[in-house]
Amino acid sequence: MIKLQNLCMNYKLEQAQLSVLNDAQLSIEEGETLAIVGPSGSGKTTLLTLLAGLEQPSSGDIMLDGVKFNKLDADALADIRRDQLGIIFQSFHLVQSLTALGNVALPLEIAGKKNAYQLARKMLDRVGLAEREKHYPAQLSGGEQQRVAIARALVHKPKLVLADEPTGNLDVVTGASIIELLFSLNKDTGSTLLLVTHDDEVARRCQRIVRLQSGKLVEDQDHALSV
Ligand SMILES: Nc1ncnc2c1ncn2[C@@H]1O[C@H](COP(=O)(O)OP(=O)(O)OP(=O)(O)O)[C@@H](O)[C@H]1O
Ligand SMILES: [Mg+2]
Repeated sequence: MIKLQNLCMNYKLEQAQLSVLNDAQLSIEEGETLAIVGPSGSGKTTLLTLLAGLEQPSSGDIMLDGVKFNKLDADALADIRRDQLGIIFQSFHLVQSLTALGNVALPLEIAGKKNAYQLARKMLDRVGLAEREKHYPAQLSGGEQQRVAIARALVHKPKLVLADEPTGNLDVVTGASIIELLFSLNKDTGSTLLLVTHDDEVARRCQRIVRLQSGKLVEDQDHALSV
């Protein structure tokens, strides 16, 4: 489904160039759950940004269902993001002028779904925020905003979920319920889950663990054998 081929990402700085991804290779099959781990600054968010089509790699390719994803034009990328991707960012990117419910319903409305509000309400309930649907982002706690962002990313049952430390702002119990939601969606809809996490226990629940090391992706073979 997804194939990273010699993926490189360099950031140009004033004096120098920072190489974050350096010939990263990876194949991910449809329906897999995969944890991406590595220390802060190792390039995990950078990798998800490329997979979301929000930035272009410096070189190399991302193949998505046999198509060069990174060579698509802006319209084609936007279509794929709307129909197939669910992106949970480290920062929430909520629309401040819309309520919690409005934020979750937005991708469905853009896609022209008739029952957008009904589906959005159901997903808000699944992240435990049924009581907060009329709140604007500024009236929500950090963890609540994160859960709205998660509901918005999952409401259209995307084929590929990219989650960047989705439980980073949540207490243990709420975090665990969000992780359950991500895994149950993977099971129920056959969606693929790419999960960036610093939590070993969460990583071990994924079928595969891949570590970012000096710009390369290194599979944890022991884990692959143990599942
Ligand atoms: N737009 C940018 N311009 C220059 N450097 C950048 C840019 N974005 C990220 N970097 C650098 O690239 C490196 C990788 O960043 P990235 O955000 O991918 O790390 P990460 O693995 O997600 O870290 P964390 O666990 O802290 O979220 C960092 O050293 C960061 O400073
Ligand atoms: Mg990050």
